[in-house]
Amino acid sequence: MEKHDNLYPKPFEKLGIEASEPVMLAPLAGVSDAPFRRICQMHGADLTFVEMLSATALIHKNKKTHAMLHRDPAEDVCGVQLTGRFAQEVGEATALIEDKTFEAVDINMGCPVRKVVGSGSGSAILKDVDRVYETVSTVRAATQKVLSAKIRIGWDRSSINSVEVGKAIEAAGADYMVVHGRCRSDTYQTPVDLEEIARLKAAVSIPVIGNGNLFSHRDAEQMQTVCKLDGLMVSRGALGNPWVFRSIKENKSVHPSLSDWMDTVTKHVELQRATYGTEPRAAVCMRKHMLWYTKGWPGAKKVREKMAVMYSLDDICQMLEGFYKELTAAGVERRDPPYGEQGDQAGRFSWDTASWDPKFDMDRKQDRGAPTPHYEGAPVSSVVGKEDYI
Ligand SMILES: Cc1cc2nc3c(=O)[nH]c(=O)nc-3n(C[C@H](O)[C@H](O)[C@H](O)COP(=O)(O)O)c2cc1C
Repeated sequence: MEKHDNLYPKPFEKLGIEASEPVMLAPLAGVSDAPFRRICQMHGADLTFVEMLSATALIHKNKKTHAMLHRDPAEDVCGVQLTGRFAQEVGEATALIEDKTFEAVDINMGCPVRKVVGSGSGSAILKDVDRVYETVSTVRAATQKVLSAKIRIGWDRSSINSVEVGKAIEAAGADYMVVHGRCRSDTYQTPVDLEEIARLKAAVSIPVIGNGNLFSHRDAEQMQTVCKLDGLMVSRGALGNPWVFRSIKENKSVHPSLSDWMDTVTKHVELQRATYGTEPRAAVCMRKHMLWYTKGWPGAKKVREKMAVMYSLDDICQMLEGFYKELTAAGVERRDPPYGEQGDQAGRFSWDTASWDPKFDMDRKQDRGAPTPHYEGAPVSSVVGKEDYI
């Protein structure tokens, strides 16, 4: 493998990020749209990403994919994540977005979703280290933006290859990399493999960002103690809890007061309205966030049930006001930690992780609120409300 220099030995400085160890919001399909990215930026996320986009869809001018490139002018530093089966295609798609305002490009080599790996993209790329190298070097040649790749530690437990993959990414000229400490074959119940992340970190010179099970400052501390990384990337831990960024950055518990919480949720609804107007997905997306936001408050179950069948932001606002009044009247001042703070590596999350696995049930149509007559995945009722999908 021919060695290419990375363009930016200090990629986070190049991005204008002041934090010595940035805390980022992961690209999250169906979630990390402009409104949510702004909310996370306002709560301390140093870098955010548009969700994974298919290189093929970009090249073929797929309208929905191009719509996902919407960026709010008020947004802070933000990158785009691409994936694709052929290095050439990913390079071509990268060139197409070179003139967009996004500051960074990430290559997804970790997505476990069947449809995605079935097309040879996402974590399927990890199976072939030469392809990892070829993809990154082709994209490197196509962009002057800060470039990273997001990987898992391997395809399955018998083929863990993060060190080899990491070296290929570095040699191909990426500026940094992100590692989710699980294999493609793992579920969210599988503990994050901190030792493997530490091995990767020790094997490469470019910055390494850690990802997986970061729900609180204790999780972050535990990962940093073992792995000594250059930064962290939060995924599920930010859902309904953008305060997690400050918690990790300040290494302390941060639980919003009722009024802080209300301000944030109200702002999120406003951003949703400004971005999507009266499109039905404005409400459908917001419902999903509301299910996460209400976690940890007493009486949330009742609200969630009502919310699950709302189709307008006005109805959601009305419901929110009522909930706020009830909590105020009951003298509830602070939310319980929504995901616990144990740093115990368990797969803590409300969509029961024992049975939920994105390999089976991530579906973008559903993420965007398109009803499907039959839902074949594992239980999503705790996330979105059964009415959405069944
Ligand atoms: C709803 C959802 C959507 C996701 N979408 C993406 C994506 O578009 N790109 C990506 O690299 N990872 C995606 N992921 C994976 C996460 O970024 C992250 O690697 C994984 O959830 C592990 O981190 P966690 O245990 O802290 O959640 C997604 C995860 C979830 C739950």
